Amino acid sequence: MEATEKVTNLVQIIICMQDQLITKVPKRSPLILRMVVLIFAIFCGLYIFSICMKQTDKFKETNPPKIQVINRRNRPCGDTRIQESDIPYVHFPKPDMFNRQECACNPVRYFVIVSMQRSGSGWFETLLNSHMNLSSNGEIFRAQDRRKNVSTIVKTMDKVYNLDWFSSASKNECSAAVGFKWMLNQGLMKNHEEIAKYFMRRGVSIIFLFRRNILRRMISLLANIYDMDAKLLNGTHKSHVHSPHEAQILATYKPTLNVTTLLSDLKIADDEVAKALEYFKNTRHIVLYYEDILTNRTKLVDVQEFLKLPRQNLTSLQVKIHRGPLYQHIGNWDDVKKTLRGTLYETFINTDYKL
Ligand SMILES: *[C@@H]1O[C@H](CO)[C@@H](O)[C@H](O)[C@H]1NC(C)=O
Ligand SMILES: *[C@@H]1O[C@H](CO)[C@@H](O)[C@H](O)[C@H]1NC(C)=O
Ligand SMILES: *[C@@H]1O[C@H](CO)[C@@H](O)[C@H](O)[C@H]1NC(C)=O
Ligand SMILES: *[C@@H]1O[C@H](CO)[C@@H](O)[C@H](O)[C@H]1NC(C)=O
Ligand SMILES: *[C@@H]1O[C@H](CO)[C@@H](O)[C@H](O)[C@H]1NC(C)=O
Ligand SMILES: *[C@@H]1O[C@H](CO)[C@@H](O)[C@H](O)[C@H]1NC(C)=O
Repeated sequence: MEATEKVTNLVQIIICMQDQLITKVPKRSPLILRMVVLIFAIFCGLYIFSICMKQTDKFKETNPPKIQVINRRNRPCGDTRIQESDIPYVHFPKPDMFNRQECACNPVRYFVIVSMQRSGSGWFETLLNSHMNLSSNGEIFRAQDRRKNVSTIVKTMDKVYNLDWFSSASKNECSAAVGFKWMLNQGLMKNHEEIAKYFMRRGVSIIFLFRRNILRRMISLLANIYDMDAKLLNGTHKSHVHSPHEAQILATYKPTLNVTTLLSDLKIADDEVAKALEYFKNTRHIVLYYEDILTNRTKLVDVQEFLKLPRQNLTSLQVKIHRGPLYQHIGNWDDVKKTLRGTLYETFINTDYKL
């Protein structure tokens, strides 16, 4: 269609030019005039011909489209059946440290779990890692030296996405999704512009995992900080536990919340989440909430579909620490209730869940 349009335009231009030439230049030298028109016509003919050739070339290129596009990107696996819209998100990494062998032609997707401390991301990551074809390598940016500046961050991510990062989560050469967990306060928000560009450039997908009830998150945060010193489990500090008995012991500590700063603290957490969603809104992403996954395991199917993984039942050995109604877990429950009444956060104390 484009080609025919161009040709018609050109023909119109030629006709106009001829008209002009003929009307403007008087009968003075008809031979020269004819020569000019002839040369011009030949030139235009060649031009139209070249456009047509280009167009047919393009058709040739796009007709078996997927294969051609992948080949052009120097991918080793020309015959992989991948949807066009998926092309930016599939990769065929060539690790320096090992050979992907029979899975060299299995596409790999890059992801990152973006979350905040005590939002269930540890549990969520163990669930994901129970998938045969997924490796999530933990909080790799907990280490300060890896997030010193943008270049150290990029270098670290390059290594992870090239499958050259080794952790207990590393799978064999048949990984189909590789990623890690990143907390907002681990250099992610600070360097969001460059990181968003990196995600777009490399086709990384984000799994946002937040907690709806940020009051519960606060309790978990305070209890975890307390246990760093108190070490309630036989003298060792644990952030995650694997038995109901251990969970029960950790939950015996009831933090007292500072009601002076409670509202502003909750707002700060809320704002961080809103900002993160805004900063990375153009990156391919899915937003999940801890509470939803707890009550609706279909959310885990959503995640597997998002990463285009073969569907599997995901399992975790971790046990939730603060179960049951909220009042059991707060030292100054009455004060907290009074402070939150009539505010945006009142729902946190009213619509509690029984887990
Ligand atoms: C980033 O940090 C590394 C390691 O300290 C340093 O070698 C490098 O020069 C820094 N790059 C920039 C751009 O500041
Ligand atoms: C998942 O892993 C298995 C076993 O390693 C492998 O046979 C299979 O091809 C992998 N699937 C994908 C989609 O990579
Ligand atoms: C603490 O140690 C005792 C004795 O070794 C053991 O019976 C108990 O289960 C341990 N408790 C926890 C919470 O690990
Ligand atoms: C609550 O936080 C404020 C501001 O940080 C502080 O001045 C105050 O002492 C705290 N109150 C309690 C009871 O810890
Ligand atoms: C559970 O999650 C699925 C997938 O997101 C959703 O379609 C469904 O409505 C949810 N069910 C309930 C009861 O919320
Ligand atoms: C997952 O678990 C459910 C219920 O336990 C079972 O019906 C289903 O067959 C399992 N699916 C797979 C793929 O193992």
